[in-house]
Amino acid sequence: MAETAEGVAAIILAAGDGTRLKSKRPKVLHPAAGRPLLCHVLAALEPLPLDRRVVVGSRRWEELRATAEEAGFSNGISYAVQEAPQGTGDAVRIGMEALGPARGVVFVLFGDTPLIETDTLYRMLDAHHAAGAGATFLTALVQDSSGYGRVVRGANGVVERIVEEGDASVAERRIQEINGGVYVFDAALLAEMLAKVDRENAQGEYYLTDVIRLLRLQDIPVVAIRTVADELSGVNNRSQLAYVSGLIRHRVCERWMAEGVSIVDPRTTYIDSTVSIERDATIHPFTFLEGNTHVAEAAEVGPQTRVVDSRIGAGATVTFAVVRSSEIGPEAMVGPFASLRPGVKLARGAKLGTFVESKNSSIGEGSKAPHLSYLGDADVGRGVNVGAGTITCNWDGREKHRTVIDDDAYISSDTMLVAPTHIGKRAATGAGAVIKGDVPDDALAVGVPARILEGRGDLMDRAGSGSSDSSEEGEDS
Ligand code: UD1
Ligand code: CA
Repeated sequence: MAETAEGVAAIILAAGDGTRLKSKRPKVLHPAAGRPLLCHVLAALEPLPLDRRVVVGSRRWEELRATAEEAGFSNGISYAVQEAPQGTGDAVRIGMEALGPARGVVFVLFGDTPLIETDTLYRMLDAHHAAGAGATFLTALVQDSSGYGRVVRGANGVVERIVEEGDASVAERRIQEINGGVYVFDAALLAEMLAKVDRENAQGEYYLTDVIRLLRLQDIPVVAIRTVADELSGVNNRSQLAYVSGLIRHRVCERWMAEGVSIVDPRTTYIDSTVSIERDATIHPFTFLEGNTHVAEAAEVGPQTRVVDSRIGAGATVTFAVVRSSEIGPEAMVGPFASLRPGVKLARGAKLGTFVESKNSSIGEGSKAPHLSYLGDADVGRGVNVGAGTITCNWDGREKHRTVIDDDAYISSDTMLVAPTHIGKRAATGAGAVIKGDVPDDALAVGVPARILEGRGDLMDRAGSGSSDSSEEGEDS
């Protein structure tokens, strides 16, 4: 693109102290729909042909960098420090110094205005070049303009200046066209005008908005592009943080529905910006998909489910469950009322059913724990049936130990598996058995503590042993 040759840079302002949030955390690091405000802005800039990007932060700029890098925004972003917040004009001047010699055009965006869209930024760039403008900025018409800078237009409708609320006359306060705080500037003109900006105003700050007035005084064209108000929603307090979070979530739901995902009730579905979903998946109401989560094709999640940093396989169902840092294989089933703590891996067609808790365990293909079990630090092979009330006693008071249950083993109801223990292939336990030590392949272990009956594993009637009934779903437990 032509812009690349002459240079397109971006300055993101993020040094304000965010006093109105009453937080220890820098404002732009507060998350909206699972992603810090600053990262939403960086994501919108990502596709543009930018040759330089600088984030202007406060003395706590390193926290901004750490957060941005953790979210995957590291390529060629530099950081500049504004020691004290003296206004948006001062912050941009610092950003310009960090960018080096003024050339081409410069975007200025605010780290606290996360709904800005890439398409709009492209639109601004085109309009800016077409008009040979000194500045191009976004405006919106709003019912309630309080808190925002108002756009003052002359008799002919041409932009004259932006007036901040504190400096506005009564008549100016009634103006419903607000400054969105998103700009493209000619870099050389911006540098020139910033040098003239003073702090003779209500807030005693260097206003970036003054640059618009200074450009117009020299008859340099300024383009104001209207967009929808929501896109310019900024975050100055927690109420606005909740509002923009809602808008982002709405946008995320719309995006996935457009991609072929069924979302039964978007109003009660909370999907982070960082989540990905394949088509024909169905997300039921009251469901939260958070962090680095992926839902594969035709999976069903919810209702009432929270999934954090996990992968849900194709055709899997997860209902009334909490799943954290786990991997659920294709066609697997979880819930209702299951809790998967970090490190659970369910293979294809495996099942963890009602009131089952698991952590740090692998459950092999087709293996099932349909109800009331705790499987912690367990390696369960294929085709294993875990009866109701079975517990891996993984903690001896000092250390955690693993339980291994080999392929096709049959664990009857209420078995206590005192780890470390290894249940052999096709081995079985009787109802209420307390297993200490290993059970060989094909053996049966019964009683408290369990006695081993070599080669008798097949005596357990797998269709009707002392385990609970789950005939409703036609499976053994
Ligand atoms: C600003 C605009 C206003 C516009 C509104 C849109 C000015 C003077 N006013 O007002 O016209 O309608 O945004 O949201 O520009 N920041 C710094 N250093 C500073 C001051 C601010 O980095 O010294 C950063 C903040 O972190 C924030 C952004 O700049 O990300 C905007 O600052 P803020 O104080 O929120 O400006 P507004 O009062 O909202
Ligand atoms: Ca603001």
